[in-house]
Amino acid sequence: MLKNKIRKSDGIIFASPVYAAAVSGDMKILVDRLAGWLHTMPLIGKTAGVFSTADSNNGDAVTSYLNKMVGLMGASIVISQNVFIHFGTLLLKDDELLNSVLKEGAVKFWEGMGGKLEYNLEQEEYFHIQNLRFHKLLEIEQQYPGLSFGEKRIWEEQGYFKYNSLQEVIREKNI
Ligand SMILES: Cc1cc2nc3c(=O)[nH]c(=O)nc-3n(C[C@H](O)[C@H](O)[C@H](O)COP(=O)(O)O)c2cc1C
Repeated sequence: MLKNKIRKSDGIIFASPVYAAAVSGDMKILVDRLAGWLHTMPLIGKTAGVFSTADSNNGDAVTSYLNKMVGLMGASIVISQNVFIHFGTLLLKDDELLNSVLKEGAVKFWEGMGGKLEYNLEQEEYFHIQNLRFHKLLEIEQQYPGLSFGEKRIWEEQGYFKYNSLQEVIREKNI
């Protein structure tokens, strides 16, 4: 259900509080449920925003984990932001300041939705590796009739077989 909603959306925001220097348990469960997408990359063509909130520390641990997960699922990440509610001398204790920081992040996400999709080298390399893997599975299927790999079928349905890079998918699918 949630998976379908994500699949249908143009953009997704992943946000988590910092709990004991990591993502919240709920967010970890969600990422684990979506872990198959780390192979099939269905978020290619979608825009994503990543946010963490924390009392004072380890926001980076959360945003870098979520950036990696969402990025390897194929999304183009346009904003990644840590918000520290108490920082040293209660920097963001002020609700107005907190809201303005979040609003700025939301505006960047919204602007990114209409912009050019950007991908980093790690994402390109990852696409390449998955593509090689699925080509190998295709060969195995051809060798052993009757064998059918589920994730390979998804790669095929998404139309990724004919592309050599992530940039090519974006360019030729016109997304
Ligand atoms: C179980 C738990 C662990 C937490 N661990 C941290 C932490 O390691 N570092 C930090 O800066 N804040 C920590 N916090 C504070 C939360 O990140 C902060 O209150 C949060 O961003 C707001 O989330 P909430 O809406 O669930 O309270 C923790 C809070 C809880 C409940």
